Amino acid sequence: MARRTIRIALNGVTGRMGYRQHLVRSLLALREDGGLDLGGGDTLWPELVLVGRREHALREIAGRHGLGEWSTDLDAVLADDSIDIYFDAQVTAAREEALKKAIAAGKHLYTEKPTATTLAGALALARLADEAGVKHGVVQDKLFLPGLLKLKRLIDGGFFGEILSVRGEFGYWVFEGDWQQAQRPSWNYRAEDGGGIVVDMFPHWEYVLHELFGRVTTVQALTATHIPRRWDERGAPYEATADDSAYGVFQLAGGAVAQINSSWAVRVNRDELVEFQVDGVHGSAVAGLRNCRVQHRSATPKPVWNPDLPVTESFRDQWQEVPDNTEFTNGFRAQWELFLRHVVLDEPWSWDLLAGARGVQLAELGLRSSAEGRRLDVPELTL
Ligand SMILES: NC(=O)c1ccc[n+]([C@@H]2O[C@H](COP(=O)([O-])OP(=O)(O)OC[C@H]3O[C@@H](n4cnc5c(N)ncnc54)[C@H](O)[C@@H]3O)[C@@H](O)[C@H]2O)c1
Repeated sequence: MARRTIRIALNGVTGRMGYRQHLVRSLLALREDGGLDLGGGDTLWPELVLVGRREHALREIAGRHGLGEWSTDLDAVLADDSIDIYFDAQVTAAREEALKKAIAAGKHLYTEKPTATTLAGALALARLADEAGVKHGVVQDKLFLPGLLKLKRLIDGGFFGEILSVRGEFGYWVFEGDWQQAQRPSWNYRAEDGGGIVVDMFPHWEYVLHELFGRVTTVQALTATHIPRRWDERGAPYEATADDSAYGVFQLAGGAVAQINSSWAVRVNRDELVEFQVDGVHGSAVAGLRNCRVQHRSATPKPVWNPDLPVTESFRDQWQEVPDNTEFTNGFRAQWELFLRHVVLDEPWSWDLLAGARGVQLAELGLRSSAEGRRLDVPELTL
């Protein structure tokens, strides 16, 4: 029975993801539960050092959660031999440089996606980390969402038979910022600051499609900036230089076709902010963040196209809810726990910087496909 500690430097905890999902919902929640159970009576206790640019914001967060350590000096934190892991949830554009420093300092790495702003940069990080012999992980939280875990369960159980197609709808209205404040940071809408919905969402679609249905082999995308002018956090107008919508078609190894619409300029008429409909020969499913509904071939209605008659049946009601059958934890926390186990117990782990580079590759090719107006092959990545 032993309590081991692991010291983690968290950079970007004043941001949306860093604070809510990684600090509060993952690491502080883990501490509230007494640490990570390593088995055999051993627990792992994460000690946290907050890192960022604004001292008052760090001090305020540290005070709010009873944490004693924070710093605005990343170099000094990385030079501290007692730090085991460097975590990065900064704005995307600041990530690559910080990760390189952390690798040079011999820290294990865990990072938000996208890992870099170019494929060359993402691959270089993966190579550097391997050469340095550090362990590395990239956030792929969507895989741990209850809705997608249920979908995976259906796939693993053979529910679909041959899977034919996947249709994803992601998005919601992000306010322009003039008469109602925007609910996302303004850098998301400026290409020069690492913004854009392709850079943000295609990395997610890459690992979701890859892990559930098959590797993406081609991409064809059309991007748009539907809202060209927005207002920032200070109420100042700016030109939106990044794409706020992307209409993508992806061919998958194994033969299925995926089509995913991503948009910050749509209003939600769905049950959840993201939904994937999967159609297979034997059955179909619609999975969201939390829920998943199915329709088996044996319960499939036979609608007949006749626009002269009103619809007599409620198609939505003909689907059946997939039960939880288990307790789901927050997806970010679930992946943190696996990464910590990988670091301290050397348990298997596949969501590394090479996996992260595949996401950056798909975003890069998606943007190029749109710019060139053609479908592009997605070559398999190796180091
Ligand atoms: N896994 C997911 O589902 C998911 C969702 C949203 C965002 N993200 C990723 O998380 C990262 C952070 O996104 P966010 O929405 O939390 O952003 P945010 O703007 O809310 O937070 C950004 C953080 O980076 C810091 N920062 C460092 N250098 C900066 C600079 N030069 N300018 C501005 N801020 C700087 C900020 O202080 C803040 O702590 C992004 O890389 C994004 O792609 C992941």
